Order: sequence, then C-alpha cells, then structure tokens
Amino acid sequence: MSNTARHPRKILVTSALPYANGSIHLGHLLEYIQTDIWVRFQKSRGHECHYVCADDAHGTAIMLRAEQEGLSSEALIERVSREHQQDFATFGVAFDNYHSTHSEENRYFSELIYTRLRDAGHIATRDIEQMYDPVKGLFLADRFIKGTCPKCGADDQYGDNCEACGATYTPAELIDPVSAISGATPEVRSSTHYFFKLPDFARFLQGWIDEGHVQPQIRNKLMEWFESGFNEWDISRDAPYFGFEIPDAPGKYFYVWLDAPIGYLASFKNLCDREGIDFDAYWQKNSEAEVYHFIGKDIVYFHALFWPAMLHGAKLRTPSAVNCHGFVTVNGAKMSKSRGTFIKAATYAEHLNPEYLRYYFAAKLTSGIDDLDLNLEDFTARVNSDLVGKVVNIASRCAGFVKKLADGKLSAHCAEPDLVARFIAAGDGIAEDFEAREFGRAMRKVMELADEANTYIAEQEPWVLAKQAGREQEVLEICSVGINLFRQLMVYLAPVVPTMAEGAREFLKLETLAWHSRHDLLVDHEIDKFKPLMTRIERDRIDAMMAASKEDLVEEQKLKDAPRGPLAEEPIAAEIAFDDFAKVDLRIARIAKVDYVEGADKLLQLTLDLGGETRTVFAGIRAAYAPEALEGRLTVMVANLAPRKMRFGVSEGMVLAAGDDEGIYLLSPDSGAEPGQRVR
Ligand code: MSP
Ligand code: ZN
Repeated sequence: MSNTARHPRKILVTSALPYANGSIHLGHLLEYIQTDIWVRFQKSRGHECHYVCADDAHGTAIMLRAEQEGLSSEALIERVSREHQQDFATFGVAFDNYHSTHSEENRYFSELIYTRLRDAGHIATRDIEQMYDPVKGLFLADRFIKGTCPKCGADDQYGDNCEACGATYTPAELIDPVSAISGATPEVRSSTHYFFKLPDFARFLQGWIDEGHVQPQIRNKLMEWFESGFNEWDISRDAPYFGFEIPDAPGKYFYVWLDAPIGYLASFKNLCDREGIDFDAYWQKNSEAEVYHFIGKDIVYFHALFWPAMLHGAKLRTPSAVNCHGFVTVNGAKMSKSRGTFIKAATYAEHLNPEYLRYYFAAKLTSGIDDLDLNLEDFTARVNSDLVGKVVNIASRCAGFVKKLADGKLSAHCAEPDLVARFIAAGDGIAEDFEAREFGRAMRKVMELADEANTYIAEQEPWVLAKQAGREQEVLEICSVGINLFRQLMVYLAPVVPTMAEGAREFLKLETLAWHSRHDLLVDHEIDKFKPLMTRIERDRIDAMMAASKEDLVEEQKLKDAPRGPLAEEPIAAEIAFDDFAKVDLRIARIAKVDYVEGADKLLQLTLDLGGETRTVFAGIRAAYAPEALEGRLTVMVANLAPRKMRFGVSEGMVLAAGDDEGIYLLSPDSGAEPGQRVR
C-alpha cells in the first residue's frame, strides 16, 4: 500500500450503528472488534485516527418497543445506549466518540443533506397506497402485517413472504390480513411520500465502484443490482414516527435509514466540537483525509449505493472505502437461541475473557466477506495453544531467571542480534497484513515467530545451564533474548489483545508498545516481576456460557408473553378458601361527612353511615377526591376490620378503592343498594 509511506495520515473510521432496541451479541462484536483492531493498529503506527459510532435510535421498531415496555422512546434509547457502551467497553472496543442519531448534530446534517439534494432536484414526491392500521393510526411496514399465504394457504405469514412455501408477494395479496401490532384489519390508504432519485446517480456510482472503493465480491454484487436497474428510494414516513420531521413537509419524517449513516457525520462533528478537530478537513469535497466504513454484508446496499450518492449529491466527499465483513456462525450454524449459541456480549463476558474472542476473531478474519465460524472447540484449542501455550510461555520461561540472576535486569549485551533483528523486520510484513485487514495472516506470522522463539529457548536449555556452575551470564543472555522476542510479539499483538498488552507493557517496564518502539533493543533494561498475562480457557466456562444463553432466551420469552399493565405489576395473590373470604364483612356505606386531616396531605377523614351505626375511617384518597365530591355518595367498606390506631385518630374499617400512582378509584354500588347491606 502506497498509503503507509505517507506520514501521518488523517483517518476517520466508523462501525455500523447498532439499533437501539436490542442487546449487543457476538455477531455484532465481529464488526466492532474488527474495526477496533484496525483503528488500534493505525494509532500504533502514529497516524491521526478517529473512531466514531452511535446508536441508531429512530424508526417504528424502536417506537413500538418503547411502547411495549411502557417507556418513552427517549427513555428506551437512553437505557440501551448505556448498555451498548458498557458492552463495548468490556470488549475493549475503544471509540473516540459514541453518539446517537437522535441528536441535534444529526438533525442538522440530515436537514442539510436533504435540502441540498432537494435544491439540486434529486427529491421527488409521489402518492403511494399502503396498508394502514386504523386502530393504531399507523401505516404498516410489510413486516407488521400478517395473514394467510395466497400461494399455499399457510396462516400467520408475514406481509412480504411465506416462511412455509417461500413465496413472495405484496401485503395486498395476503388472505385475511391483520395488523401484527393491533390485530385490526388494515385498510389501504394513500399518502404522499418523498423519494431520493437514486437513478440520477447511476453514472456517478458506476465510476465510484470502478475506482475500487469496495471489495471485489461486493463489486460483483453491485453490478448485479446495476443490471436490474435502480428505483427511487422512499425516504419519508408518516407520523407517528420516532425520528426527524422533514423540514418542508409537516407530518412527514425521515425514514430511519436516511438519517442513520448521517449519524457518522453527527458523531464525528460532536467529537470535533469537543476536541477542536477540523471537521471540514475530513468531509469537504476532495479532502485529503481518509474515511472508512466497516459494515456487515447485509447493509451493503445502503452504504455502497445510497450513501455515496447522497454525499455526492450534497457536495460532500465520499468514503475512501466501505469495508464489508461476513456473518458470524456458531458451531457451523446460524446463531440460535434454542441451541444456546445466540450469545449476548454481556453473557459471554460473565464467563470468559473478552480478549479470547478478540484473538479468535482476529485469527480467522480476512479482508473478504466470507462468514466466520466460531467453533467453540477450535476456539478453546486455538486460544490455549497460541496465546497461552506459545506467547505467554516465552515470558514465563525467561522472566524467573532474569529476576534471580540479575535482579530483573536484562543483559547489557544482546546475544542474538540477528534473531532479534529478524523479529523486528517481520513487523513490516505484519503491518501490511493489518493494513489490508488480513488479520488471520498477521496472526499466523506472529505465531510462527512465537514458535521460533520457543524453539530457540528450548534448544538453548537455559534451565539445564542454570544448574551448571559459572554459566549464569549465558543463561541471562538467552533469557534476555527471549524477553526481547516476547516484546516484539506483544507489539504485534497489542491491537488485538490490548488488555494483555497493557499487562505486558507493565511487566516490561516500557512507556509504550507502539509499532515503531520495537526498534529499540532492551539491553541493560529492568523488567518487573512476571505475572501470568492470560490463563487457559476451561471447558466448563464455555458450557456455563451456553447454558446462560439458553436462560437469556427463557427470560426474553417471559418478557414477551407476560401480561402487561396492572396484572404484571401486581400478580394475583395466593389462593384462599371460601371460609377465608366469608370472614371479611363487606357493607354498603354512605359517606356522610368528609374532612381534611391536618398534617396528612394524602388522607381524608370519612364519616360513614352504615344505616344505624357510624364509623370513622381514614382513607388515602385525598389526591383523587375533593370532600364535596364524596359527601352523600355510597361506597363499600370492610366493616369487621380490627380498629387501627393512627397518628390522627382511630380508623374503624376500610373503604374499597382500586388504584396506583396514576389514579384512585373508589368503588360504589349500583343505585338501589342501601347503607348497611352486606356485600358478598
Ligand atoms: N442500524 C443498522 C446499521 C446502520 S449503519 C448507518 C444495523 N444495525 S444492527 O444492529 O442490526 O447491526 C449492526 C452491525 O452488526 C451491522 O453491520 C451488521 O451487519 C452487523 N451484524 C449483525 N449481526 C451480525 C452477525 N451475526 N455477524 C456479523 N455481523 C453482524 O444494521
Ligand atoms: Zn406459502
């Protein structure tokens, strides 16, 4: 790469913005770990590199999810953003900024790009007919409509395709369609939509793709799309929608996928404002800076067609490259909740060291778009043999002798300058692999070097020499070479296993493990006491993680099936016998008089007429009723409750009311009931 020679580069890197309605899982982590490794490598090389991301917070799914949980959309995205950031931190994914698409910066750039496109004539409007849920008052995306398949008659199929026979169709063709949200029968309604005229950019995109901004496999895919022709892209949604209103179109909102990639700009702008970075130097047309988007293969269409076209149309620079990766499978199959292989980031981290996964992904990653299998047997074997058995082993075999023979000081003379020089020189090829996202190849080279280092030590047998009188200096020199080789390996591994590298840096008493620092030999240099930098994966940890993932599924299912509302909050109490019920003497009472209670702002003092007998009852209903509204009214009371002494007097029973924080509802009998009548 000619790029590596130019120093220092200005590089902006993004990962796709995770949806704000779900947890981060191991599939997501492939992307964030891949990107983070690349970013850490660039920083290690001394480049100015910024890594930004954000939560993708808009859209119908998030709005409905919030509603289901009884939260505002804002409250939901707040909570999820905190969870996401916690998960990323746990896995060492070190964003320079983590923002949200529901932010002022994003509103600004969405409006800017939209108005520039509109003013240049790239926006069209057109009425379209769509299914509408009359109960929810909502236009329904295809996936929110269910019905009977028109081809095979299978029921409960989604609006665009049948899972039973594989047929595809439009929601209008479904038999007996219903809204998956409310169960209502949808109506067809017409509404004006706004379209981005993608066909205007066909020639531009053809050129852009030919300039090599995408991987060869992606280019082929894009060519197929080219041949089938482009449609205009519907970028508007009707209210109610959680998103940004389109500036010149009240009641119309930007479709979530319009403002999602703009979130890259928004997050970066937020960072620039905080740290005084020149935003325009990165985003103006013909910028010298580099911009890279890391994404999964399911969202190529948005990033390699719509996004460059939008940027170009809005007179901004386009990405240097869109770097696409494949999907994670676990034990050879799609991640599956019932098999316990749909593993959340947080669940993994409760059982296993995140750096195991970072190493394993690195060891298997290429620059291509093939799927990556996390085979848990192979994962265990690979991590144990490479990181623990090969790399850590070098340091642990040598450190003790250095401590014992020279009080932790490496020899003043390097006994194997050629060997160490070869390890240093290997850094150039390894750097090329990192640069090209060939992490697997880089890891193979590192492990070959680790093998060489171990062979060197094994052949020198310092532990044998150590038993022979007068050979201490030789032992020290051999082990000092070993420590120098270990240091080289940790420089190369640092982008992949940053926490382990930090431990190694402290052990080596170095300021930095940055790429270039490897050129300084460690001679006459003091090191610290050795602590194990990484331990082996135990099989039972993996089993526990999979069992916990099945538990996650059970919890989720409970959440889905659970009744919502009061019953969910206060489940029905334990069963009682009829005799228990018969002990409670409920009577109709007339509220004869109502008084405020001094010093108790929740209580009212009720004087109740039971038809011959009066009772004084203190009831916590003041928030809901004015005294005048209650006087004369009939209600139901527990008449045989033991009197209870309260601060303000004795309460001789209880009136019956339903309610919670939101409201209080005093029970009353139908008309005709008389004070003193028993209720049963
Ligand atoms: N919100 C959109 C992206 C908007 S970018 C402007 C989205 N979110 S996502 O949460 O579904 O996915 C985030 C990233 O994780 C995507 O790049 C997606 O491809 C990736 N992955 C999600 N599941 C994955 C696997 N099982 N394996 C590998 N990557 C996966 O899409
Ligand atoms: Zn069917």
